[in-house]
Amino acid sequence: MSADTPGNGQTPVLELKDLSKSFGGLHAVRGVTFRIMPGDRKAIIGPNGAGKTTLFNLITGIFPASSGQVLLFGKDVTGWQSHRRTALGMARTFQITSLFPRLTVLDNVLLAIKGLRSSKFVMWRFLSSYRDVYDKAHQLLEQAAFTDRANTEVRYLSHGEQRQLEIVLGLASDPKILLLDEPAAGLSSGESVEMTEFLMRLDPKLAILLIEHDMDVVFDLAHTISVLHFGEVLETGKPEQIKNSQKVQEIYLGTG
Ligand SMILES: Nc1ncnc2c1ncn2[C@@H]1O[C@H](COP(=O)(O)OP(=O)(O)OP(=O)(O)O)[C@@H](O)[C@H]1O
Ligand SMILES: [Mg+2]
Repeated sequence: MSADTPGNGQTPVLELKDLSKSFGGLHAVRGVTFRIMPGDRKAIIGPNGAGKTTLFNLITGIFPASSGQVLLFGKDVTGWQSHRRTALGMARTFQITSLFPRLTVLDNVLLAIKGLRSSKFVMWRFLSSYRDVYDKAHQLLEQAAFTDRANTEVRYLSHGEQRQLEIVLGLASDPKILLLDEPAAGLSSGESVEMTEFLMRLDPKLAILLIEHDMDVVFDLAHTISVLHFGEVLETGKPEQIKNSQKVQEIYLGTG
């Protein structure tokens, strides 16, 4: 049984079946197949140009697949646009520009939640709906251990804290799976440790698919790791197995 095989008949949160993408003659992603179950923490690693970001773009619907399938909660979403996939329960981190630097942490979270709700502004409903949004914001801040900085303006947060806050905003839509493309990129080693601790505090039922070059983050966070090499999954296994893999050492040393 592979590390990705579900044991209890649950529906996978995300399933890729023989997924491929070519750009002209370049096969950026080749025949990728795996499943992610609720609460799984999976990392995709691989050298520069291995196809990691392209794989994310196929999963989120930024690029159409050349062949193969993407299933979200058992539904074939291969031909779906990004926003419809997001609505099913998938989130990808926001870019830093989506934060409002002169507003407080709490206001940023309130806006992210409010922006997702399509309810029209109706005066008699305003107070009660505001209450819901406010409760939800506090719940998100608490879960992320950000409550103490709720009233801090975002521009006074460290770079690492701002990267964490982007993820908190991504959680406003109550995703069941979170896709993170290099969450520790550009962070100092201390900030990377904080990012890892932050991610480990998130709801254990939330599935996380992570691309990351920082191996400390990967080994601390991931339950399973898949190694992508020239668009193909070279090996999948638990962190210990990947750490000790001859094949993986060869590609990172450039002799593979
Ligand atoms: N839109 C595109 N058009 C043409 N080629 C592309 C496009 N996007 C990616 N590629 C190519 O596909 C291959 C995989 O790129 P990708 O960005 O997915 O790699 P990566 O594993 O994310 O690399 P990195 O670790 O550097 O972020 C590369 O050869 C890249 O040049
Ligand atoms: Mg990339």
